Amino acid sequence: MSDIKYSTPNEVAGKVALITGAASGIGKAIALLLHARGAKVIAEDINPEVQALARPGLVPLVADITQDGAAERAVALAIEQFGRLDILVNNAGIIINKLVIDMTREDWERIQAVNATAAFLHSREAVKAMLPNKSGSIVNIASYASYFAFPTIAAYTASKGALAQLTRTLALEVIGHGIRVNAVGVGDVVTNILNNVVDDGPAFLAQHGEAAPIGRAAQPEEIAEVVAFIASDRASFMVGSVVMADGGMTVTAG
Ligand SMILES: NC(=O)c1ccc[n+]([C@@H]2O[C@H](COP(=O)([O-])OP(=O)(O)OC[C@H]3O[C@@H](n4cnc5c(N)ncnc54)[C@H](O)[C@@H]3O)[C@@H](O)[C@H]2O)c1
Repeated sequence: MSDIKYSTPNEVAGKVALITGAASGIGKAIALLLHARGAKVIAEDINPEVQALARPGLVPLVADITQDGAAERAVALAIEQFGRLDILVNNAGIIINKLVIDMTREDWERIQAVNATAAFLHSREAVKAMLPNKSGSIVNIASYASYFAFPTIAAYTASKGALAQLTRTLALEVIGHGIRVNAVGVGDVVTNILNNVVDDGPAFLAQHGEAAPIGRAAQPEEIAEVVAFIASDRASFMVGSVVMADGGMTVTAG
């Protein structure tokens, strides 16, 4: 592609993006990075703190992504505010640490609802909005837990495995319409995701990340950089990929 601008990281200028889970951590970093690079952004989160992101070209939406109609309302807001939808980032995610033998059906279903079902619903509605444009990019925030496991995270690993397979299958269904679907398999990132699971979630993740070959956990902005590229037209040949951004965690044999 002769018109690629190698030196200018403005790859999403003029695009309209919807990001779920944008009040905190990786989603917040993605929303701010895409906005800084010229995208118009709808930042959706169940946490009202997402409203602090409001600024010209960045519209917060307080919503539970698992509720009936939430995906429809989020996509409609993008079109109402900015006229179209080019990018969806299914980022919102939650985790519990419980052995399967201790897990309730409600525990299991809540994790699937946020991490997998809401991603399906938002993807379905986003694709409907993207089809007339014959273009679009969906980026799912997967995990090393899409492939690997340890005791107590069965609900989470099942949901992230589902998200990886949703990525591949939807990619095949919509690439003929110019819409690309990919995922980023994230390693340990210093965020609030474990705050309901351990005493100091960010500190736990920072320490856990030291076991990765890179010797540390990521900051959310490092994941946002990968998402910005995959979301953009510069990633034009990426279809159905689950790209690892995990400091080498899934590469090492020991
Ligand atoms: N932090 C890590 O080490 C790590 C590792 C692998 C994958 N991930 C994935 O990265 C993504 C982002 O997580 P994070 O680490 O930034 O966590 P985080 O807790 O900082 O952010 C997650 C956001 O999702 C929002 N959210 C949760 N349930 C929601 C709902 N029903 N409706 C709307 N918003 C909802 C939360 O309010 C929060 O703002 C998740 O999908 C997570 O599984 C994180």
